[in-house]
Amino acid sequence: MTTVIAHWSHDNRKRAESILASYPERRSAIMPLLYVASLEHDYVTSDAMRDVAALIGITPVQVQSVASFYTMFKRSRVGDYLVSVCTSISCYLVGADDVLSAVENLVEGGRDDAGEDASISVEHVECLGACGGAPAVQVNYELIEGVTPEKAEALIGWLRATSPEVVLADEMQQLFGGRRSFDWGPSEAEGATRPLPAFGPYGSARECR
Ligand code: FES
Repeated sequence: MTTVIAHWSHDNRKRAESILASYPERRSAIMPLLYVASLEHDYVTSDAMRDVAALIGITPVQVQSVASFYTMFKRSRVGDYLVSVCTSISCYLVGADDVLSAVENLVEGGRDDAGEDASISVEHVECLGACGGAPAVQVNYELIEGVTPEKAEALIGWLRATSPEVVLADEMQQLFGGRRSFDWGPSEAEGATRPLPAFGPYGSARECR
């Protein structure tokens, strides 16, 4: 069955096989397979959805209905760094719109003549579950809490100046964060290397570069 993804990389075929082996019902594997498809294609392309549909025996339209419902499955290419600004109520009440504007202005201002900024994409998102540390921002799904517009601008400048291979929540919190919702406990040392969540079981962070 994995011959339908013979054009995928060896590593991603192995990931897909391992995921499929974990599910008695192949269709139950749709979301982790869409994640691997994002690793393969950088985002969930139409071809990727057709591949996943063929792998699990459903229609491409059914795959699309899942891929389009969950906003973390990106349907177009994003930059190396995806900056997600929470604009839900707790963050909104303490200035999230100003944080978002600060980031958007800088990223818009940094676009080249073709209107592209290949390195940074910005989106506004719903509650990140860090309301106690509002306003909350993520870079490649690594969380920073207590972000001000000034700190957000500094964050964008830092990403551009240093192009970090790995973004780490703890490091960014220290550099650009403020009040946190709670003590996160042990540090998470792996971080993220691309604008995808760092899910170890599906191959994440450093091993997927
Ligand atoms: S409202 Fe922004 S983290 Fe909950």
